[in-house]
Amino acid sequence: MSKLILAIESSCDETAMSLIRSEEDADYFQIEVLSNAVASQIDIHKKWGGVFPELASRAHLEAMIPVLEEAMGSNQQSGIRYQPEKLKTESWQLTAVDAIAVTAGPGLVGSLLMGVETANILANLHKKPLIPVNHLEGHIYAAFAKQNKFNIPKSDIFPILALVVSGGHTSLILMKDHLKYEVVGQTIDDAAGEAFDKVSKLMELGYPGGPIIEKLAQSGNENAYKLPIGIKDQADFSFSGLKTAVLYLTKDVRTGEKIEYNKADLAASFQKIVVDTLILKTKKAIDKYNPSSVILSGGVSANSYLRKRFSRELASKFLPEEMIIIPPKNLSTDNAVGIAIAGALKQDSANFVVADPNLKI
Ligand code: KG4
Ligand code: ZN
Repeated sequence: MSKLILAIESSCDETAMSLIRSEEDADYFQIEVLSNAVASQIDIHKKWGGVFPELASRAHLEAMIPVLEEAMGSNQQSGIRYQPEKLKTESWQLTAVDAIAVTAGPGLVGSLLMGVETANILANLHKKPLIPVNHLEGHIYAAFAKQNKFNIPKSDIFPILALVVSGGHTSLILMKDHLKYEVVGQTIDDAAGEAFDKVSKLMELGYPGGPIIEKLAQSGNENAYKLPIGIKDQADFSFSGLKTAVLYLTKDVRTGEKIEYNKADLAASFQKIVVDTLILKTKKAIDKYNPSSVILSGGVSANSYLRKRFSRELASKFLPEEMIIIPPKNLSTDNAVGIAIAGALKQDSANFVVADPNLKI
């Protein structure tokens, strides 16, 4: 029997909602993405050079109803980014929704609260089950959504090794089955996305750093500056030493005087060493856990240079190619599609006890 899942994501600086239809047979979860609405707060946070938590919660509050209307198809004039355009065909009633999934953490507390309370109210009002989803599992499941309609195999893809690279996380996660996660490597200091953002700030390039550095790097020489890989031998990541190395190249820390450097070359060299690190650790984990498939997801996976190298350098280990699972770029960064998919699978899972609509997460 097919069911409709509405999902809400508000853990950082995007207010996102998605409606999906989900069905299953013995071998597959069959998913159809019906809507994917994302209201970005980048313009609000730009001038602060990073996410300003109090402003983020307020902006979520303002965006909640317009994003809900957009996701349900009842108002498509709000100007909210809605991808892809061709999804804009139908409208749905909240009464028809079978369950509401919501990002319950990790994230900024004030931002999370806005989504969780909205989900709580909708679930109470319409007597729907509420499904808490972890932000990282949302990133993982978004990777399967390559088209509007797709199947997720129930077996054959396990174990999965997932590299989730975002503004808050750099994690290697081993999955022996759906919804079963074991963190086998993670950052001990900065996340990869955070390193992009901080280095962009050091180089006075703006926020968010990832896309700006990626663009600048296209015209730079990636071998111009020699930068360090943090903790080479272990599964964990460290990016703070790299950030300090960039700082030393941009100014004399004793006098505070700026040093002349080539911005494009430094951007390219920095991007290269981050990607070298990510691929090195992923390869080590592949050798250790021998996964059948590999996922690359999270905001940093929107980076074309990373996507290209990840696919190319792991190709010999994963045949057929579909075993390298990377989301379309618009689902690399925060969205509610992955939250909805994880929510649908959780509701199907024998282990999941459907939450009481009054649940406080
Ligand atoms: O997953 P995400 O949207 O939010 C968090 O969960 O944190 O990731 C945001 C991060 C930011 O640090 C941003 O700079 C980075 O993803 N990012 C990128 C690119 N696009 C976004 N990093 C590198 N290259 C990109 N093209
Ligand atoms: Zn994220």
